[in-house]
Amino acid sequence: MSGIEPGQNPSATRRLRRLRNSRLIREAVADVRLDPACLIYPVFVSSKSEPSEVTSMPDVLQLPVDAALARIQTLCDQGLNQFLLFGVTDKKDKDPIGSFAQSADAPVNQLIKQVRGRGLNALLYADLCLCEYTDHGHFGVLNDNTESPSNDRSRMVNNDRSVAQLALTAAIQAKYGANVICPSAMMDGQVAAVRAALDQAGFEHVSILSYCMKYASNLYDPFREAGQGVMQFGDRKGYQMDYRRSREWRSELEADLAEGADMVMVKPALAYLDIIYQVRQACHLPVVAYHVSGEYAMIHAAARAGWLDLKETALELTYAIKRAGADMIISYFAPQIVQWLKNDGH
Ligand code: PBG
Repeated sequence: MSGIEPGQNPSATRRLRRLRNSRLIREAVADVRLDPACLIYPVFVSSKSEPSEVTSMPDVLQLPVDAALARIQTLCDQGLNQFLLFGVTDKKDKDPIGSFAQSADAPVNQLIKQVRGRGLNALLYADLCLCEYTDHGHFGVLNDNTESPSNDRSRMVNNDRSVAQLALTAAIQAKYGANVICPSAMMDGQVAAVRAALDQAGFEHVSILSYCMKYASNLYDPFREAGQGVMQFGDRKGYQMDYRRSREWRSELEADLAEGADMVMVKPALAYLDIIYQVRQACHLPVVAYHVSGEYAMIHAAARAGWLDLKETALELTYAIKRAGADMIISYFAPQIVQWLKNDGH
């Protein structure tokens, strides 16, 4: 053949295993890093008197305000200090336009106020959406019958009326002390309206993380149990993005940049690494990826069956999201990741 003796490495100058052959060298050359500062942990706060489990999301609890406060305090002490807050609303407090979101009694507003009152060193992201507050479970205010023929369910949600309601809610979340408002309803013009409402109310220092590229995904179903935002009819394809369109994200990104978003989000994360990668290349704002409930549930389900190792798989997949270009990751694994990184890493 080519004169190579048996047992001889044909490319002895290219020994790629040199940088893999000890744990220390692997640590030294790894260029994708996870640390607590890049993690955001979702917290579900409810008006129930006891914590309650979310069946489809192991280790995730809906917490009463005082328990959520204690949890945030504990996690801050452990070095995790960014939280995305969702309110869980009693049926009796829901109405067609989600007005309870603006109430001083809404658990999420109470929690924000108490975290600020305690002076905790926590960055609070407020999810801004009406689905946890409307009795129909949609993200916004519905058209009346004359505006939306009953056979066209995709047009049910009235864009501009929903935007007005979201903007009012945003100013209230800021008033209680939210640091970052996260419009997640996928209504056109929502970022501009929220920016204007915040500025008018004197909250020009409050940032906006826009759920900019949010796909109509099946992977949100466990969340709907956690947030009690199950839709009573229809689907969300009339406002969330179609996963069969590979370039539409550019239009969403352009719109949100022009409207004043400070950070942009891609959601879900794992099945959308191509989008995260491209958004990273296309924009200089921080890119946040949401590793959603269904992705979390799938990993847990396989681990429970003994088919995957929970820790190793969760770390690998979280690194994959980071490697694709996410600056920050919203993850239900965040508290565990902080512990894993602290203990033995991987
Ligand atoms: C809307 C909202 C949803 C999620 C976060 N914010 C539900 C949806 O978009 O339909 C899903 C998050 C997850 O699945 O983990 N308030």
